[in-house]
Amino acid sequence: MDNKAIGVYDSGFGGLSVWYELRRHLPAESLVYLGDGKNCPYGGRAREQIRGFAEAAVERLVAEGVKMVVVGCNTATTAAIDYLRERWADIPIVGLEPAVKPACLTTKSRRIAVLATEHSLSSDMFLNTAARYASDVEVIKVVGRDFVEIVEACEEHSARAEEAVRRVVAPLRTSGVDRVVLGCTHYPFLRELIERELAGCNIEVIDSGEAVARRVEWLLDRYDLRADSNVQPTFRFLTFADDEYRQNLERKALELL
Ligand code: DGL
Repeated sequence: MDNKAIGVYDSGFGGLSVWYELRRHLPAESLVYLGDGKNCPYGGRAREQIRGFAEAAVERLVAEGVKMVVVGCNTATTAAIDYLRERWADIPIVGLEPAVKPACLTTKSRRIAVLATEHSLSSDMFLNTAARYASDVEVIKVVGRDFVEIVEACEEHSARAEEAVRRVVAPLRTSGVDRVVLGCTHYPFLRELIERELAGCNIEVIDSGEAVARRVEWLLDRYDLRADSNVQPTFRFLTFADDEYRQNLERKALELL
């Protein structure tokens, strides 16, 4: 048993979609969320730079005394997960990967689309996963252009969001895919719009949030790290940006509940 918090990290607001699944599945666990904010978006940046941001973030969470880290960011995972696990070999570090495997196992049309950042889609990790699970499935790679910026501006219910989603997602309606994978943790905030754009096309939208929560649960049991359910959990929010950003993180998290 271990009552220390689980650290969750993302470039910004996106990882809150993972935070939400962790709260839902593991209500006894305390969580410390770090949304970088200062360097977001990561998606178009070089690998070394993202790795530096991820290292600073995990360093901060470790200094907070967390018992586990969830990198709630596909981009940071593809850029840095091996390095982070090597550097902090004594704590479990969970990464996020687009749900290519479940999409490939369930697609009937043998054609799927993965929506993610430029960095994630061109990473070795993504290419390896695609080669492993999608050898007989066609994978259409789509960058969610402007999606992260829209979510960071808290504009997911705006005309700007509708337009961006239409521009990116409408071509998928006639592409022959029957699964669309949300491979960036910011994108679930636009899920409603994405699903509306795909309505009537028999396309299922999949994200990784729940699978990550299950993986975390498995690790808590494996290393005997579960929190005592009689102890009140705490929820804290940190950022490398300013306090206004930190307050927005907190507000957005509460809105999800
Ligand atoms: N939320 C992130 C991801 O899952 C990164 C978005 C960004 O900063 O570009 O990929």
